[in-house]
Amino acid sequence: MRFLDGYSGESRASRWVGWCIAFLFVALGVLNTVLPRTEKTSLLRDEYRGIHYALGIGLLLFAIWRLVLWLRFEQRPTAGQLPQPCVRWINGLCLLTLWFLLLGALLGFGYGWGEGHRLHFAGLFDLPNLMEPSRPLWQFSGYFHSGLGFTTRLLAAAAVLTGIYTLVRYRTGLIRAFPAGFGPMFYLSILIMVYALNSFQAPAPGFRAAAWFLAATPLVWGLAILLGKAGLAARPQEYGPTGGHWAWAGAAAAGLIAISAYGLYVPHLMFRVTPWSMGVAVAAPPGISSHQAPVANVRVRPATDFEGQVDAETFRWCRFCHTFQRNEPHLVGPNLHAIFGQRAGTVPNFHFSEAMAEAGAQGLVWNDETLAAYLADPDGFLPGTSMIISSGPVVGADRQAAVINLLKRETMPASHRREEEE
Ligand code: HEC
Repeated sequence: MRFLDGYSGESRASRWVGWCIAFLFVALGVLNTVLPRTEKTSLLRDEYRGIHYALGIGLLLFAIWRLVLWLRFEQRPTAGQLPQPCVRWINGLCLLTLWFLLLGALLGFGYGWGEGHRLHFAGLFDLPNLMEPSRPLWQFSGYFHSGLGFTTRLLAAAAVLTGIYTLVRYRTGLIRAFPAGFGPMFYLSILIMVYALNSFQAPAPGFRAAAWFLAATPLVWGLAILLGKAGLAARPQEYGPTGGHWAWAGAAAAGLIAISAYGLYVPHLMFRVTPWSMGVAVAAPPGISSHQAPVANVRVRPATDFEGQVDAETFRWCRFCHTFQRNEPHLVGPNLHAIFGQRAGTVPNFHFSEAMAEAGAQGLVWNDETLAAYLADPDGFLPGTSMIISSGPVVGADRQAAVINLLKRETMPASHRREEEE
C-alpha cells in the first residue's frame, strides 16, 4: 500500500493514526451533513448525538496522539521531495488542523453540557455532567465549535489547492505531499462541504454539485500533471532555500492566521449568531422562555402533500433554530410557543436584535400577513434583523401559507387552535 503513504520520514504509528483521524473526520462530516437533512422528526435525536459524541471523542484522542508523535518523533520529511518552505506550509496546515480538531472537541463538551445534554459514548456509557446547563456557555462554545468546523474546511481547501500546486511544481500531489491520511481527508471534507452547501432544501442539487466536483478532479489533476511535464515543474536544484527563512515562515503564519480568523467569523456570516448575547431582552425569571398565555385563536387547515413537502424542505430549518413547546429553551432563535397575536420581539429571556425590539415597540404583531412578509424577505421587511433562514427566504404564497399553517399547528395550544374540516 505504498501509494497510500504520505510524505516519507513518518513512523508507522504516525501513518496509522493519520488514517484513523482521516476516517473519523470524514465519518463525522458525513453524519453531520446527511442526518439533519434526512431526519423526519427531531434534528438532534439522541442516537445521532451519541454517534457524533463518539466520533468527536475518538478524534480528540487520536489528535492528541498524533500531536505527541509529531512533537516527539518527526519534525520534517527526510526525502527531498519538496523544498523546505513548502514543507513548512504543509506542516502548518496539518498541525493547525490537529489543534483545531482537539480544541473543537473540547468546545463540544461545553456545548453539550451547556445545553444540559447527557454526554454519552454512542449510548454505551455516560460521561458525568461536569457543569450546570448554562446558556452563555452553550452559546460561546457552540459558536466556536461551529467556527472551528468552518476553519478546518477552509484549511482543507487551502490544502487541496496546495496539493494541485505541488503536483505542477514538484510532481508530488495531495497524497504524497502531506502526512499519511491528511491529503485524502482534506479532499473528502471539501467534497462533503460542496454537497452540504447545495442541499439545504433537497438532496438532488447537492448530489449534482458533488458529481461536478468529482468529475472535475481528474481534469484538474490531469492538467496539473501535463503542466508539470510541459516545463512548469521545478528541477531539484531550483528548490530554493533549505534553511530557516523567516520571510517564508512569516508569510505562511500570516496566511494561516488569516484563514483561521475568517473561519471563526463564518458562523456569524452564515447564521448571524454571536459568541455571546447581544441586543435587547425582556427580563423574566430563569426558565421562562415563552409567552405564558396564548392571545389569539387560529384556524388550521388540514395537512396536504404539499405541506409535507414544505415541512421537509423549509420548515425543518425553522425547527433547527426554534423550539415550539411552552418554556422549551431558546436555540439560535427564540422559542415560538403561542406566537400568533404576540408583539414582535417580546419572548422573555431572548436577546432580540434592536430592529426586532423596536418593531415590536412600534406595534408589529405576528399574524398571517406579517409573518408571510417577514418570511418572504427577513432583511427587506425588517432591516437589521438577526434571522437568516438557512434554506433561503420563503417565496411563493403557497409555500408561505404552508409554513404558517405548520407553525400554527406546532406552536398554538389545542385550546386556541381550530382544525378546519376537509
Ligand atoms: C439560523 C437560525 C434561524 C432559522 C433557520 C429560522 N429562524 Fe426565525 N429567528 C431566528 C432569530 C435569531 C430570530 C430573532 C430575530 C431578531 O431578533 O431580529 C428569529 C425570529 C423569528 C420570529 C419572530 C419571533 C418574535 O418573537 O418576534 C419568527 C416568527 C420566526 N423567527 C419564525 C421562523 C420560521 C417560520 C422559520 C422557518 C421558515 C425560521 N424562523 C427560521 C433564527 C432563525
